[in-house]
Amino acid sequence: MANLETTYLGLQLKSPLVVSSSPLSTDLESLRQMEKAGAGAVVLYSLFEEQIELAEMGFANYYSQNVEELPEPLRHIAKMKEYNQGAGGYLAHLYQAKNTLSIPVIGSLNGYYSSGWTRYARLIEAAGADALELNIYYVPTKSHITGNEVEQMYIDLVRDVTSSVRIPVSVKLSPYFSAIANISRRLVGAGAKGLVLFNRFYQPDFDVVNRAIVPSIDLSTSAELRLRLRWVALLNGQIETDMAITGGVHTAEDAVKGLMAGANVLMLASALIQHGVGYLGQLNDELNEWLDTYAYQSVSEIRGLLSHAQIGDSAALERANYLNVLRTARTQGGS
Ligand SMILES: Cc1cc2nc3c(=O)[nH]c(=O)nc-3n(C[C@H](O)[C@H](O)[C@H](O)COP(=O)(O)O)c2cc1C
Repeated sequence: MANLETTYLGLQLKSPLVVSSSPLSTDLESLRQMEKAGAGAVVLYSLFEEQIELAEMGFANYYSQNVEELPEPLRHIAKMKEYNQGAGGYLAHLYQAKNTLSIPVIGSLNGYYSSGWTRYARLIEAAGADALELNIYYVPTKSHITGNEVEQMYIDLVRDVTSSVRIPVSVKLSPYFSAIANISRRLVGAGAKGLVLFNRFYQPDFDVVNRAIVPSIDLSTSAELRLRLRWVALLNGQIETDMAITGGVHTAEDAVKGLMAGANVLMLASALIQHGVGYLGQLNDELNEWLDTYAYQSVSEIRGLLSHAQIGDSAALERANYLNVLRTARTQGGS
């Protein structure tokens, strides 16, 4: 039996397989099953900034009863109380989760601008969270907003939050930055202890018959893993930080790839929604078998084996890979 232990954000975990933030963690019984199946840690579903805003205004209860009085874009937020029980309910659930589980419980805040973030970060800490994940979900849709402004907003937010709590804070990032390595370095400089790569953006579809925009939330496939592998492999060794991969981890082989890229942990949502949280047990067994088959004693032995730090000049390698891929595609196409 190989040793699956890993560390993440200064926490000692029994397995690198961690439950990613999703509605799977809204239920205490489901959390118990995750622990039983061998989850290394759990990231709770998010408390959304918009809910904090309503709670701060003292309006949350009122508007959940009188949704139609809210402007259209805010109505879904009032209804989301059912999804995460509002700000107070979130803290109560976190407290109960901590009392129920012995594995680390990571709180999650989701948004991009609110002044309420630091206060809720402190409350999440007080409710017992072992760490806090900031999901900065912002799509700069206006043409006057510059990349610099967006990056500075991220940095300021992370600095505000990390300076107001003692628990470690990680940042869940989008892949849409001009210079991911640079923003990663600056976020770590602002106090982030870990990076969670990457947020998935849910892209609404068009219903052309009814001329409507249809929200869609597709589950991932392993194909989405490659973007994460590439960036974790590129950042490993360049930036002193822990890294989590979220997006496209479905099999034990996916987990091995993520570890070889240099991730400390692999976070899963879609695979657990598809197969149930008990699937974590199977993945832990398969990861163990894989390590045994190839005579590795522990996950720490394979961590970073395929990172660019191990392999050489990252920019030159990226260029060479690009050329190779194009050349192979041409050969396969017969030209
Ligand atoms: C139904 C659903 C709900 C989610 N809710 C949250 C959330 O509240 N906060 C968050 O940070 N991520 C949320 N996510 C994103 C997941 O944590 C994860 O990052 C993403 O699904 C990629 O991982 P996967 O490929 O394993 O699904 C959600 C994902 C799904 C499918």
